[in-house]
Amino acid sequence: MTSIARLTLALLLTTAPIAASAQPAQPWTNRALSAEARADLLVRAMTQDEKLLIVHGHHVPHPRMFDGVAVVAQAGYVPGVSRLGIPALRESDASLGVANQVEQRKGDVATALPSGLATAASFDPAIAYAGGRMAGAEARAKTFNVLLAGGVNLTRDPLNGRNFEYMGEDPLLAGTMAGAAIAGVQSNHIVSTVKHFALNAQETGRHILDARLGDVPLRESDLLAFEIAIEKGRPGSVMCAYNQLNGNYTCESHYLLTDVLRRDWGYKGWTMSDWGALHSTVKGALAGLDQESGQELDTQAFFGAPLARAVADGQVPQARLDDMVRHILTGMIANGLMDDPVPDRPVPIDYAAHADVAQRAAEAGMVLLKNDREMLPFAKTARTIVLIGGHADVGVLSGGGSSQVRSVGGVPVELMPPAGSEPAGFARITWHNSSPMAAIRAAAPGATVTYIDGRDPAAAAAAARNADLTIVFAWQWQTEAMDAETLALPENQDATIDAVAAANPRTLVVLETGGPVLMPWLAKVPAVLEAWYPGQRGGPAIARALFGDIDPGGRLPMTFPASVAQTPRPAVVGMDLLHAADAKRAAGASDVGGSGQVPPFAVEYPEGANVGYRWFSARGERPLFAFGYGLSYANFRYSDVHAHGGPTPTVDFTVTNTGARAGADVPQVYVRSEAGASRAIRLGGWSKVLLQPGESRHVSVTIEPRVIAAFDPALHGWRRAGGKYTVTVARSAEDRGTETIMDLAPQSLRP
Ligand code: BGC
Repeated sequence: MTSIARLTLALLLTTAPIAASAQPAQPWTNRALSAEARADLLVRAMTQDEKLLIVHGHHVPHPRMFDGVAVVAQAGYVPGVSRLGIPALRESDASLGVANQVEQRKGDVATALPSGLATAASFDPAIAYAGGRMAGAEARAKTFNVLLAGGVNLTRDPLNGRNFEYMGEDPLLAGTMAGAAIAGVQSNHIVSTVKHFALNAQETGRHILDARLGDVPLRESDLLAFEIAIEKGRPGSVMCAYNQLNGNYTCESHYLLTDVLRRDWGYKGWTMSDWGALHSTVKGALAGLDQESGQELDTQAFFGAPLARAVADGQVPQARLDDMVRHILTGMIANGLMDDPVPDRPVPIDYAAHADVAQRAAEAGMVLLKNDREMLPFAKTARTIVLIGGHADVGVLSGGGSSQVRSVGGVPVELMPPAGSEPAGFARITWHNSSPMAAIRAAAPGATVTYIDGRDPAAAAAAARNADLTIVFAWQWQTEAMDAETLALPENQDATIDAVAAANPRTLVVLETGGPVLMPWLAKVPAVLEAWYPGQRGGPAIARALFGDIDPGGRLPMTFPASVAQTPRPAVVGMDLLHAADAKRAAGASDVGGSGQVPPFAVEYPEGANVGYRWFSARGERPLFAFGYGLSYANFRYSDVHAHGGPTPTVDFTVTNTGARAGADVPQVYVRSEAGASRAIRLGGWSKVLLQPGESRHVSVTIEPRVIAAFDPALHGWRRAGGKYTVTVARSAEDRGTETIMDLAPQSLRP
């Protein structure tokens, strides 16, 4: 053999193996493959220790080191595997902006959106998307790659302390809005969760209660909201809840995590536990939980060493651990966490532009509940305006708990929650620095605007008596970890409103509440504006609504009952047990420790799928203000209503602004099966339109097919009965609207 031939052979021998594996060294980086296929390649490359590492998350209330990596305080942290390019998961709350409950990072502020209910009240998915996109951008800029956003629990009880975080009582509205918000978050190449899966409908006893509701009503209500949110938002992860569902903790519920989520919905991302919601190793893993979150808040590490042992001794099959890892990696890869990693260090944020997003959401969600004698919008010529209560001189209220954002601009008022209440340790009653008084002064520069705190009704009445306008800012603080005991406004505010309204008929009430409140003074005041928790630009948003710079575009995403007695549970179930335990503890008993040691209790849901307005409509109850209700400064007429059947029924109509001002309207399509057992109406769809005076628009609303079908467990899908359906284009769930009849053929739908 010549030397050249020898050299060629040697080269061939050395290069042959390389040519045979012409794949990249890390084939899972190949973007042409599906996220699942890439995750699968990674699973094959991982050691057992690496797999166990990423199914086990930590709570980081103080900065700490993880394997040589300095980690700042954050809601959750899951170490990555750098040799394979798997980034750590850096998790922050939540739906209303990048939350910062953790005091170590003083000055680490973020843009505070209005409450979830305010966003839901916009009935505008574009508003929800913009808010999610903004919050996700801030999360990313702060180096977080998971935002624990996407709260979509239905409002079953108006007393629930966390209603303000969620999207209201209707599954189609809540699912659509949450899905849009999730898509907005994830447009930043970070993951959003959807949470809390499922039926976490109250805070009282949330760690112990057993929520009892059958498969069919659950699928047609709370689970439908999740199903729609997942379809529209494609969240990388699903967070299971604290409560039990029909006898199993939700993070150990095979029904929820496997049967519904994977088998029926084909979900590909990962399931994570809520912080402190896991109670087992084998049961949780076999039920379908993929990742333990915030392990330090569980009673022990369940997915750490105990899971390693359970896999080693065969109680949890290796294939199940591999699945857990595959799901986590699929959710991460699908959302760009590996291909477009978040920055190593925080990068600057355009807070001015983000504040505008928050303000638009606040404006779009304001609901004008009453406007007699066209008291609103105010003329800018008022000479004297008196503001009363609610710290309206300095700020606007926000809701408490893990979603709390410490907003840009700071906190002008911060109060401690009631002593002894569960949130005392981690929630503060927090006002954002956005002064309605400053905004009203700017809107009415010729007026003298003064403020009085309103604690003394007589003093408030005296201050109001000679004013051209009086605005009472009434508030109700709601928080995670505690439900309201009553729908009445706290701290004697009803007496103040009564006294002020008696002294000055030109009195308007602005509500900053977590949800519905009772309004015993309603007949005495000509105008009421529900501003919710309006976020860090709440002051200007309120002023612009009052002076007509915008049309209050919101409609109620939940029923405002006339009395809590009209609702399925007039008192929060279990609150009496907690109070009894607290009383015993206060009396010195050592064997009761408050909520932690109250025995588990059950919560029944006699309303089934008839949540909120459906309950009211089925029982013929008249609420104070109905779901979907809200006034405009314009007037709208609906005409030419036509319903078309077929597989995807559609309703066409024309909306005309017959008023003198531009305005925002939300025509709603309600459907009732004339053949069905329930006479309850269901929201089938809606549209949001902005119209100039005299302008008409043709609107076509597609009815969500599942809303008018029944879930059939045998089919793992939906069946629509054939027959007549009444379709109404209306202004609220109570409005008689314009009715038409639609004939529909029977139909089966599989997910
Ligand atoms: C809440 C979750 C939150 C988690 C992490 C829990 O207490 O229920 O919504 O994402 O804490 O902070």
